[in-house]
Amino acid sequence: MDRVFTVAIIGCGSRGCGAYGGNMMRLKDMYKIVALCDKNPQMLEIAKKKLQVSAENAFLSEDKFFEKKRADILVIATQDRQHVRMCIKAFDLGYTVLLEKPITPVKQELYDLLDAQKKTNGKALVCHVLRYAPTALKVKQLLDSGVIGKLIMMESLEQVAYWHQAHAFVRGNWRNEEETSPMILAKCCHDMDLIQYYAGTRCSSVYSSGDLRYFNKKNQPAGAADRCAECRYIDDCTYSAENLYIRKWKEAGCPEDLWPQDVVQPNIPLTEESLRQAYKNGPYGRCVFACDNDVVDNQSLIMNFENGIRAVHTMTAFTNFGGRKETFHGTLGEIEYNGSLGDTRAGGVMRLSVFGKETKYFTDEELSYKIKDDFGHGGGDYGILLNLYNLACGKEEATTSLEESVESHLMALAAEESRKTGKVCKVHSR
Ligand SMILES: NC(=O)c1ccc[n+]([C@@H]2O[C@H](COP(=O)([O-])OP(=O)(O)OC[C@H]3O[C@@H](n4cnc5c(N)ncnc54)[C@H](O)[C@@H]3O)[C@@H](O)[C@H]2O)c1
Repeated sequence: MDRVFTVAIIGCGSRGCGAYGGNMMRLKDMYKIVALCDKNPQMLEIAKKKLQVSAENAFLSEDKFFEKKRADILVIATQDRQHVRMCIKAFDLGYTVLLEKPITPVKQELYDLLDAQKKTNGKALVCHVLRYAPTALKVKQLLDSGVIGKLIMMESLEQVAYWHQAHAFVRGNWRNEEETSPMILAKCCHDMDLIQYYAGTRCSSVYSSGDLRYFNKKNQPAGAADRCAECRYIDDCTYSAENLYIRKWKEAGCPEDLWPQDVVQPNIPLTEESLRQAYKNGPYGRCVFACDNDVVDNQSLIMNFENGIRAVHTMTAFTNFGGRKETFHGTLGEIEYNGSLGDTRAGGVMRLSVFGKETKYFTDEELSYKIKDDFGHGGGDYGILLNLYNLACGKEEATTSLEESVESHLMALAAEESRKTGKVCKVHSR
């Protein structure tokens, strides 16, 4: 590599410190982390140690951190509603920005950020990491090759997985729309991004339906307590903290570090005792039927694109495995991708059927699936760091640029409006 870029990270949680920080530490010929900011002293302390940043370059105060430019690149991995104000400050200081998704759930802020980028000529990459996964690139390559003729429609299924829904969207950070984002943005902006990338044109209108069906008070079993540690169903309940955190950690072989257990208890190494204490005393030990959650656990969308392509997308909490399944129907054939995580076929099965001809199943090698898979998101977390590097060098444009990412956000916001009003909604009404 030509040079090593210095990096600052604001928001040193699961993504900032765990994913990008950890991955950048593995890419030492490309990146050197030199400054950190997190308002939570515990998270800052953990990140300082893990990412080997000195105390004088670790900040608790956002204002102090933004007093001057502290590196070439800034990773913004704070929560959804803080991204835009931080990104505007970063553009003013001249950082190349890696911005976590979603950009923001506030429509006007999307336009404000685009304006700020134009004014400062700012460089930014939005973390729609799935676009960089080899399997997504393969689908796009097949579609563009014309091998299945003219694309008529796509179906996609976002399998959230029962335990992930309970962890992040019932007990965790993304449970409440007002605090973060609606589910369709928080979880599915990746899907919206992929769908518009595959469609190759703008989405014009969306219809959506969905609700919070299961994780609410009326489904709490009789006699259940509001905290798992005090509940008579602690061993039998599928969603009990004991089962989701301790039992699953043991099944994984009691590793020192494991997501999402390290969100419940961020001090590594994990131990049974520290994990149990953390869920007993914290938000992750709440009964899933007695939380302050309001985001949906199931939602479907029908999207119409300007070139006539139609896409149907469903997200559901009620799956055993996480990951996506996608099918593409063309005039001459179809492509099916099963990216179920933890399935016995171990992620990344792709089928190409050209009508009347023999079906082709791609091998792992052909999909490059295993390449850098350990970086996260099927290799996408590696691919995005390569694009970031080349963007900072001036050798490449941003693949998931702010402009394109705004499109997928507008689709998600229109879907949410449709879900709430019951009407078909235009994506580009301002
Ligand atoms: N790209 C992906 O696939 C993906 C996956 C998960 C989450 N995310 C997104 O990444 C972002 C971070 O998620 P996470 O799981 O790391 O959350 P997290 O809660 O683990 O980390 C966020 C950190 O930001 C810190 N913070 C909040 N306000 C701050 C401020 N004003 N100044 C400094 N620090 C502040 C918090 O203390 C926390 O440590 C979210 O926007 C989330 O939606 C993206």
